[in-house]
Amino acid sequence: MKPLIVANWKMNPETLKRAKLLFDSIKRGIKNIKNVEIVISPPFICLPLLLTPKPSIPKLGAQDCFWEEKGAFTGEISAKMLKNLGCDYVILGHSERRRYFRETDDTINKKIRAALKTRLKPILCIGETFEERKKGKTFQVLRMQLEKDLKDIFQFKVYSLKFIVAYEPVWAIGTGNPCGPKEAKEVLLFLRKFVQPLFHSNTRPLILYGGSVNSKNAKDYIDIGFDGLLVGGASLNSEEFIKIVKEASKD
Ligand code: PGA
Repeated sequence: MKPLIVANWKMNPETLKRAKLLFDSIKRGIKNIKNVEIVISPPFICLPLLLTPKPSIPKLGAQDCFWEEKGAFTGEISAKMLKNLGCDYVILGHSERRRYFRETDDTINKKIRAALKTRLKPILCIGETFEERKKGKTFQVLRMQLEKDLKDIFQFKVYSLKFIVAYEPVWAIGTGNPCGPKEAKEVLLFLRKFVQPLFHSNTRPLILYGGSVNSKNAKDYIDIGFDGLLVGGASLNSEEFIKIVKEASKD
């Protein structure tokens, strides 16, 4: 299976012009790299500018969505609007949204349902804080997030769609302190066992690693068995991001 490399630009860059330059530079750099799937998730306002006719390479993802389709919800963007625009993926439950915007597992569950209903592929982010890891609660926290975030999603025919879970230890995000391969592998094995039964047997959910990924450590996570990577800071530098994609594509 092709590794899936997702760029999360977060609230960057500051102008549409720079977004377009960054996107075009990445696009040129990945042109001849065949065996990876690449998704760029820019801020909402950049999406229309970066969309190209299907099959688009790279594909586009949003960084969040709202669960209602339309109506009086000031400031929100619905999953349906994103799908209508031509978006393929949506990142949900990112730790920054849980932390700064008080997202709860309940609202994340609603968003996942809305995404699945419109056939946007969700990238669900889960992860423990440093304190939780120190107390030995990592698996307990991940299990709780998964159970709540994925509650009753069976009713959706997920098996005809990709579902992605990104393990992003909160303490590794944007810190330059990635999760070591040994610890990451322990979590991957736990997730494989725990996530699969929540899905129809025809669906093999993809499991990504995210948190201070760079071109030097990218291949380690693929070698351990992760299906791909979620890249934040390093995806804002086209050269570095292209290197990450190249590393992940190596046999
Ligand atoms: P980072 O961010 O690569 O800058 O650590 C990852 C993420 O937040 O998805």
